[in-house]
Amino acid sequence: MGGQRMARCGCKVLAMAALVIAGPAVAAPLPPALQQAVARGAHIFNDDSFGSHVKPVPDAASAFAALDGAPHGGPRFMTCAACHIHGGLVRGRLPDGRRIASLRNAAAVFPRYNVKSHRVMTLEAQIRHCVRDGIVGRAPAYGSSTMVDLVSYLKSIAAGQRIAIGGPTH
Ligand code: HEC
Repeated sequence: MGGQRMARCGCKVLAMAALVIAGPAVAAPLPPALQQAVARGAHIFNDDSFGSHVKPVPDAASAFAALDGAPHGGPRFMTCAACHIHGGLVRGRLPDGRRIASLRNAAAVFPRYNVKSHRVMTLEAQIRHCVRDGIVGRAPAYGSSTMVDLVSYLKSIAAGQRIAIGGPTH
C-alpha cells in the first residue's frame, strides 16, 4: 500500500520536473509589433537591393522567382534572396553556381569567429558584410530599423534550432 502511494507520488514529481525542464510545448504567439518586424524583414530579404545596381544573374533570378513567387524575372537588382534562395530556408546558390548553406540555423550559431578577418562576427556584422560585398549596396547601420527587421526575420526562421555558438550552418 505504502509503496504504491510512493510510486504514484514519484510519478507526479517526475511529471512536474519534466514540465519545468521542457517548458510549455507550444510557444506563445508573437506580439503584433514583433510579427510585423519579422514580416518587414522577410520583405527586405526578398526585395530590397540596398541601392545596388548589380543585376542578379538570370539563373539566380529565375530560381528566386520560381521558389518565392516573385513577379516574372525576379527583382531587378541584387537582393539577399538572389543568393540565399527561398527566403534562406534551403541551400543557397552564388552567382557562379557555387552552393552555400541555408540560413535555417544561422541566427542560432552566431557570433562566429571569422578566420579571414580575425574577428568575432555577430549576425549583424555578417548581414552588413553580405550587403557590402554580396549585394554591393549600402549596409544598414547597427540598430537601424532595417537591421532590427532583418535580425527578427533570421531569428524567426531559426526558431527551434539548437543554439550552438560558433557552430556550423546547415
Ligand atoms: C552575392 C551573394 C550573397 C548575397 C546577395 C547575400 N549573401 Fe549572405 N552569404 C553569402 C555567402 C557566400 C555566405 C557565406 C556562406 C558560406 O560560406 O557557406 C553568406 C553568409 C550569410 C550568413 C551566415 C550564414 C553562413 O552560413 O555563413 C547570413 C546570416 C547571411 N549571409 C545573410 C545575408 C543577408 C541578410 C543578405 C541580404 C542583406 C545576404 N546574406 C546577401 C552570399 C550572399
